[in-house]
Amino acid sequence: MVANVKDLPQLSSKLEEAKRTAAYNAVDQNINFEEHRIIGIGSGSTVVYVAERLGQYLKDPARHEQVANFICIPTGFQSRMLIKENGLQLGSIEMFPDIDIAFDGADEVDENMQLIKGGGACLFQEKLVSTSSKKFIVVADYRKKSPKYLGTNWKQGVPIEVVPSAYVRVTKDLETKLHAKKVVVREGTPAKAGPVVTDNNNFIIDADFGEIHDPKLLHTQIKSLVGVVETGLFIDNAEIVYFGNDDGTVSVM
Ligand code: 5RP
Repeated sequence: MVANVKDLPQLSSKLEEAKRTAAYNAVDQNINFEEHRIIGIGSGSTVVYVAERLGQYLKDPARHEQVANFICIPTGFQSRMLIKENGLQLGSIEMFPDIDIAFDGADEVDENMQLIKGGGACLFQEKLVSTSSKKFIVVADYRKKSPKYLGTNWKQGVPIEVVPSAYVRVTKDLETKLHAKKVVVREGTPAKAGPVVTDNNNFIIDADFGEIHDPKLLHTQIKSLVGVVETGLFIDNAEIVYFGNDDGTVSVM
C-alpha cells in the first residue's frame, strides 16, 4: 500500500498535505513486518503522520497482530504522547537500545542528506534514537530541502544542547573560536519565560554559521567544546528522505 494524496481526506493546507504524504509514503514503503519490531518515533509536526499511519495499520485486521507487537521508542514527551494516542506500544531506549527502523523530521536537509535537527529541542534523544537504529528515515515537507548547503533555508542556526553552567563559555567559544555570526540561548514562550530546558535539564543554544559547507567538520568542532552535549547536525545518519511537495507528489532522496 502506498499513500496517494488523491485518495486521502483533504487537509487544511498544502503544507499539511505535504507532511502527511511524505510520512505515509515513508511508512508504507519501509515498514517490513518480518524484520521490524522496534520502531523509533521522532518529534515534530511531520512525524505526527508517521504515528497516525501506524495507528491506521493497527486498526487494519490484516496488520493488527504485527503492529500490536511493535514497540515504539520515543524521542521526547510529544513523541511519547503520539505513540500513546495512536494506540501503539510504548518502550524506552534503555529497554530496547537496538532499534530496527526510526522515522523523524528535519529542519533542513542538504544535497548529501546531512541534516539540521533540533527545532523542537529534542536533538539529543533524536540523535540517540536515530544512531541506534539500523535504518533512519527522514520525513519532511518541501521547505526543508536545501538547494545546496545547510543554513540556506533554516535561518535559526544550528541547535546545540549545552550543560546550563557552561552556556556562557560555550557561547564565547562559538563566537570567538568557531566564528558563529550570531549565538542565542533559546528562550521559552512569554508564558514560560527563561531559557528552554530540555528533557535532560540542559539549555539549547542556536548558533548561526550562515551557509555550512562542511557540516561534518563543524559538528566535530562544536562537539569538542567543553559543555556541549550534542549538536543538531546529523551527519551520515539518514538513509532515505521523503519530501512532500506542494503539488501533492513525493520526492525521495
Ligand atoms: C525536533 C526536530 C524536528 O524533527 C524538526 O524540527 C522538524 O519538525 P517539523 O516536522 O515540525 O517540521 O528536529 O527537535
